[in-house]
Amino acid sequence: MPDSDIATSTQSMTDPPRTEPSDQDAQPGDVQEAPQRNQGGLADIAAARAENPTEGREVVFDLDDVMVSYNGRPAITGVNMQVHNQLVTAFIGPSGCGKTTLLRSMNRMNDLISGAKVEGTIRYHGNDLNASGVDAVEVRRRIGMVFQRPNPFPKSIFDNVAYGMRLHGMKDGLNDRVEKALRQSGLWEEVKDRLKQSALGLSGGQQQRLCIARALAIEPDVVLMDEPASALDPIATQRIEDLVDELKTDYTIVIVTHNMQQAARVADKTAFFSVDIDNTGNRSGILVEFDSTSTLFTNPTDPRTEAYVTGRFG
Ligand SMILES: Nc1ncnc2c1ncn2[C@@H]1O[C@H](COP(=O)(O)OP(=O)(O)O)[C@@H](O)[C@H]1O
Ligand SMILES: [Mg+2]
Repeated sequence: MPDSDIATSTQSMTDPPRTEPSDQDAQPGDVQEAPQRNQGGLADIAAARAENPTEGREVVFDLDDVMVSYNGRPAITGVNMQVHNQLVTAFIGPSGCGKTTLLRSMNRMNDLISGAKVEGTIRYHGNDLNASGVDAVEVRRRIGMVFQRPNPFPKSIFDNVAYGMRLHGMKDGLNDRVEKALRQSGLWEEVKDRLKQSALGLSGGQQQRLCIARALAIEPDVVLMDEPASALDPIATQRIEDLVDELKTDYTIVIVTHNMQQAARVADKTAFFSVDIDNTGNRSGILVEFDSTSTLFTNPTDPRTEAYVTGRFG
């Protein structure tokens, strides 16, 4: 894929003010559409986000009837959605509904899983990701991934960040790029005097920010994050959320989270997935609703979304 395909549109929108979750009950009229849906401030947080975040933004991913199956059994079916440039798109939904599976199909990670098959079309900047001749290694360089559990290599902090660059033959300015990536992930000040020490000596939150630095060092266009804070304490989680918010100035981010508050805090758009059971008893993940975070949490169209975001999901 040519370099010109890398998204370059400028940020045209100002973020709405962030509000903190409140334990107090909503005052009548606070959230005019659906005050009854306020639970621990979720609706308030979501309502403060832009209603039309995609306006004027380039489409980075265009998914057309995507189905992923394992050994012939569909894990997720019929997904149609677009992911826009320099926004945070969240995937939410119950365990097993195919969030990780779909995320992995967005950078050809399912190629590495035996029995996995992706059908339908996933276009990335207009190019079919699965077309013959597309180099999966190059795809994964442009579309980086951060996993649920921090997975630093048993190497030094420096070598962890430099790893992908060396792998991809990006030899120029190695030191500068490592520093830049560590600054972007907010880790530089904490590790600049111990770059040669093992990454395994870092805290869990630091390790996850190191993994984010490792992903950023190879200068991706997109960062896919699969529940990046689920193994972290609240303070480390907050740092990851702040980081996601900062990174969208330069990157397109897709984040899976089981934490709806987190989706409401960080995502511009949110996709709600669920599990559908057909009349032959087969279970498969489906995309129920995809909208601006503001609309999805405060005024969803589908009753299944409403049940989930209000905590009435069985
Ligand atoms: N490597 C795999 N091999 C076989 N089945 C898998 C594999 N990974 C996930 N699945 C199945 O696919 C479905 C969706 O899983 P997953 O994408 O992990 O869901 P989520 O991330 O929403 O919890 C589940 O039924 C799960 O058991
Ligand atoms: Mg998952």
